Amino acid sequence: MGRFEVIIYQKQNDIGYVTLNRPQALNAYNLQMRDELYQALGAIKDDPEIKVAIFRGTGERAFCAGADLTEFLTAPSPVIARQVRWKRDVWGLFLSITKPLIAALHGYVLGSGIEIALCCDIRLASEDTQFGLPEVGLGIIPAAGGSQTLPRTIGRAKALEMLLTGRWIEAKEAHQLRLVNQVVPRHDLLPAAERLAKKIKNYNPIAVSCAKQAITRGLDLTLEQGLELEAKLGGCLSPDKHT
Ligand code: COA
Repeated sequence: MGRFEVIIYQKQNDIGYVTLNRPQALNAYNLQMRDELYQALGAIKDDPEIKVAIFRGTGERAFCAGADLTEFLTAPSPVIARQVRWKRDVWGLFLSITKPLIAALHGYVLGSGIEIALCCDIRLASEDTQFGLPEVGLGIIPAAGGSQTLPRTIGRAKALEMLLTGRWIEAKEAHQLRLVNQVVPRHDLLPAAERLAKKIKNYNPIAVSCAKQAITRGLDLTLEQGLELEAKLGGCLSPDKHT
């Protein structure tokens, strides 16, 4: 794995920690962050010692203030940008990870920041968190899956409202909308994420992975197909498979 500059990747007691680390730019997501995140996600996916991962941001003010607007203005043509994206599909990699991912959110969680959070399975937010999707106001649409992951999380009407109006919401409303699982005081954000991670990492990792897949993959299937998926995943866990 290469050296990281705009993220911090740590491994401690079976937990992977990914920290977005551009506090001077409110952890805005730039190309370098994409490349480093891609490597860290690969490590989380492939390292058998990692049972669960926590995503967070450095600095007091933001988890992530969205795509880096300085790169946005100087970006190559959309066609080239799209080709590069295909070569390094960080979002596809994110969503393909079958280990549980926890987002610990604070401050500004905008654009790509929400999209990173939506690639995680459990989202915790500190009381000061603000969520927003500025993309349409900038003449673009989400490019990291947000137009698909947000409605699957908070439903069609509220996702459309957030995206089309650009209205920001605070932690309390995010909790009411089920965008986040819990709202906690800032000082308890990381400890709360670690309590969840510790609970999960002590379970059988295959059962955890199958449970995650049953829900995340099943949601995109019909009930009948979903039941088949559940039976198939459950079959991998039946005691006779372990003898
Ligand atoms: N890309 C690049 N730099 C960003 C950034 C972004 N998305 N968001 C914030 N920054 C930088 C600012 O340029 C500033 O840098 P500087 O100190 O070198 O001037 C620094 O982070 C602090 O931001 P600032 O705007 O001074 O803080 P604020 O409290 O006045 O406003 C925000 C905070 C989040 C409201 C504001 O920074 C903002 O609107 N950011 C852009 C959000 C956005 O549209 N993201 C793109 C989504 S697609």
